[in-house]
Amino acid sequence: MEFDARIDAPLIRCTVTSDRSLAAPVLCFSCMAPIRVVDGGERIAALGGYAEVRLPDLSPGTPHHLTLRHDNPDYAPTNRAWLPLGAYLRSDDGPIALPPLPAGVRPRPFRADGPAPALRLCPQPRGFAPTGGTLKADSFRAAPDLLVGVDALARRTGLGAFLDDAGVPLDLRPNAGCAPEGYRLEITPEGVTLHHRDEAGARHGAITLLTLRTTHGGRLPCGEIEDAPRFEWRGQHLDCARHFYEVDTILRLLDLMALMKLNRFHWHFADDEAVRLDLPRLPELRRTHIRGEGELLPGLFGGGIRSGGGYSRADAERIIAHAQDLGIEVMPEIEVPAHALALARVYPGTRDPNDAGTEVSVQGYPENVMNPAMEESWRIWEAMVADVAAIFPFGVIHLGCDELPPGAWAGSPAAEALKTREGLDTTDDLQGWIMHRLAGRVAGMGRVPAAWEEAARGAQGIGHQAILFSWTGQGPGLDAARAGHPVVMTPGQHLYLDMAHTDDPEDWGASWAAIIGLEDTIAWEPVPDDEPELEDRIIGVQATFWSEFTTRDAEMEPMLAPRILGPAMMGWQARGTPDPGVLSALAQEYRAIFDAMGWRHAMA
Ligand code: ACM
Repeated sequence: MEFDARIDAPLIRCTVTSDRSLAAPVLCFSCMAPIRVVDGGERIAALGGYAEVRLPDLSPGTPHHLTLRHDNPDYAPTNRAWLPLGAYLRSDDGPIALPPLPAGVRPRPFRADGPAPALRLCPQPRGFAPTGGTLKADSFRAAPDLLVGVDALARRTGLGAFLDDAGVPLDLRPNAGCAPEGYRLEITPEGVTLHHRDEAGARHGAITLLTLRTTHGGRLPCGEIEDAPRFEWRGQHLDCARHFYEVDTILRLLDLMALMKLNRFHWHFADDEAVRLDLPRLPELRRTHIRGEGELLPGLFGGGIRSGGGYSRADAERIIAHAQDLGIEVMPEIEVPAHALALARVYPGTRDPNDAGTEVSVQGYPENVMNPAMEESWRIWEAMVADVAAIFPFGVIHLGCDELPPGAWAGSPAAEALKTREGLDTTDDLQGWIMHRLAGRVAGMGRVPAAWEEAARGAQGIGHQAILFSWTGQGPGLDAARAGHPVVMTPGQHLYLDMAHTDDPEDWGASWAAIIGLEDTIAWEPVPDDEPELEDRIIGVQATFWSEFTTRDAEMEPMLAPRILGPAMMGWQARGTPDPGVLSALAQEYRAIFDAMGWRHAMA
């Protein structure tokens, strides 16, 4: 069996060649956005970007041509990520796999734009006063307690043992004069002194030593390094709902984050397409774990005939424990009230049976919103909050509130009655009412609620000092910060690492927010110059990775590397110091680290 597809913008031209006679098979596949057939078949079913197209009879060895285009005339396929993914044929004899199209970033030649800085380290430290000379350091001899996590990280990532009895002396000195998470390193030809105030500072100092040992060929430059982060929240998000990542992949991502001094993992395991974490109060959600032929949902953003998986509580605990060893907190996200297609299929009582609305989500899904007038919705939301609170020790629980489709609930008599009863005028008011109520439950459990920027909307909004994640840009985050919310900036134009690196049609990735080259990741400033008072409310920055077009774990890696260096700089370094020339030089230097880890990167 052969399957090929290419872009002829705005068209997508596909060719199917069967090795046997097939009577009117159905081609099933998933695209980045809803598609229609121009010629060569008849679309008989669709859900979002997933489509089923009946082909004519196929005879062995005779290519059949099929032409597609997007439903939305404004969308043109821009690169290979827009081609049909997970294609297979449904025939009278059952499903037949088709070979997947070549997927993922093809590494491209990379040229560093600047000379390497004196310390080949990302993020760059606040200060470095060289004293001349170097210290040859194969490993370090230290009282191990505080640094066993770094030693384990060094061994796992292929960077080599960090602690060893034969290593150079590393003297750890608690020092109240250091900033939170900060450290001071004195590197002399005789050894190293590491001043730190807290455990995080000791870890960051050790990671600096580990990195410099690799990037400076085993000889540390002597001098004094003074360092501390700008922001308390330095995050990386991963969408494990659209694509199921193996636990080991997540553990590797946590390792990479630790090397970048990132300290928050935003675990997005619930979305339209699946709720992948096993929640003890909602075991029926396991039905969402596998998608495809014969499953609850077809192969939305799929990997062929059947694909997916779920995370057990033990998996979650493994991820949390691994993260904690690295000083990383794991924030769970549930999706309230929209982006809930799979959940609403499992629990139809979360929708008003009399809802006459025809709203469709941006992804092309109908009926992906839970209805707050249904008791079942509250039972589910409260069960989700209770379960994630029991599993995750971190103090912050993210409630979602992403992309409510315009017109949601407008056709629901029950929602209209609820609005009247509660004195709510608009859809945003109703959404704000839900978020406020649920955030109150979270706050009542002693946790801090969080949500995407939309949760601030409506007469009431989420309130409760919820942490808001600004993603459409910085504007909504700035408004939220002005209104007193703590804010994490994850502007799509700079930190959505699922966006393509370049506009080359041979590249890979989405482009709806922007094309994001390495240097674009730092071409912004989280806090406006003329509003320094917001510096305390904007608590951090975070990179985001959505998985709509990821069908194998490895495809995510070169989307993050080397661009993850950008958010690492933005989260740590002082205002105005991230520098594009230094960033590109460091990307080149970090090849050694990516290669040691076996982390695929986008640099040929
Ligand atoms: C988002 O990217 N819709 C949060």
